Amino acid sequence: MKKWYAVIGDPIAHSLSPFMHDYWFEEHGIDATYIPVHVQPFELENAFNAMKTLGVSGFNITLPHKQSIIPFLSKLDETAVVMNAVNTVTFNGRQYIGWNTDGDGFVRSLSAQPVTLNEKVLIIGAGGAARGIAFALKRANYKDVTITNRTYRRAKELAEASGSSALTIKDAELSLADFSIIIQTTSVGLAKDEALPISLENLSIGSLVADIIYNPLETPFLKAAQEKNCTIMNGVGMFVYQGAIAFEKWTGIKPDTEKMIEIITEKLGGNYVNR
Ligand code: ATR
Repeated sequence: MKKWYAVIGDPIAHSLSPFMHDYWFEEHGIDATYIPVHVQPFELENAFNAMKTLGVSGFNITLPHKQSIIPFLSKLDETAVVMNAVNTVTFNGRQYIGWNTDGDGFVRSLSAQPVTLNEKVLIIGAGGAARGIAFALKRANYKDVTITNRTYRRAKELAEASGSSALTIKDAELSLADFSIIIQTTSVGLAKDEALPISLENLSIGSLVADIIYNPLETPFLKAAQEKNCTIMNGVGMFVYQGAIAFEKWTGIKPDTEKMIEIITEKLGGNYVNR
């Protein structure tokens, strides 16, 4: 029988996950489909029960359900426990298990760049996305990770939990030249004319500057970094790799991530070569 997978969220129409997973199912000759399901917060429990009844083989969860899905699951993998958020659910025939592939997705996309584990990394932001990335970087053995955030208390808390350091935005701005990898995880930049979450005045030439946002492909933050002759990395890689890790958990197959990054970049109106 044809298997089916889903992504649930509110809103959901914009999600590129159905396109990506259906592409991979077809590429590997797997008789399965992946559908977007619009689920509002008050419908979550009913939606999950309905998916179970209808035999869902696995699903992704996007905003705003990444935490609220947890009580309904049988158990959580360690990545989801640490983040207190789930973006992927697998079904082993008995149990629905929650995982979080966001942080590892980012780290895999970072590893595709010429970086080393000894470089000094600065994470801007201390929300859910920053949390996943901070823990994943530490798991991957990045030695020197610092977190800065508008609300310093949250940076400090995340740094203590993840074995990283914390700086105020002002101190991070002053010492920006020390960092060769800078990761922007806040929602600033979704709108074209928004201010930068941190001044890039002291940025060193040649640093790697990443933004987890992928639409727009080039946030004002990345544009400013490019003007300072830095290498920039948008969020397409993180999006594709988090999906690839989920796909592998469901099917045992490692899909072609490089080709998908190219396809998604072009779908979003970008030029892959100049990514
Ligand atoms: P997510 O799960 O997407 O990371 P979140 O948990 O709401 O979302 O976290 C949002 C992050 O963006 C936080 O680091 C937040 O800073 P605060 O902790 O000070 O709120 C940051 N952020 C949001 N809007 C911002 C702005 N206008 N300037 C700077 N940082 C901002």
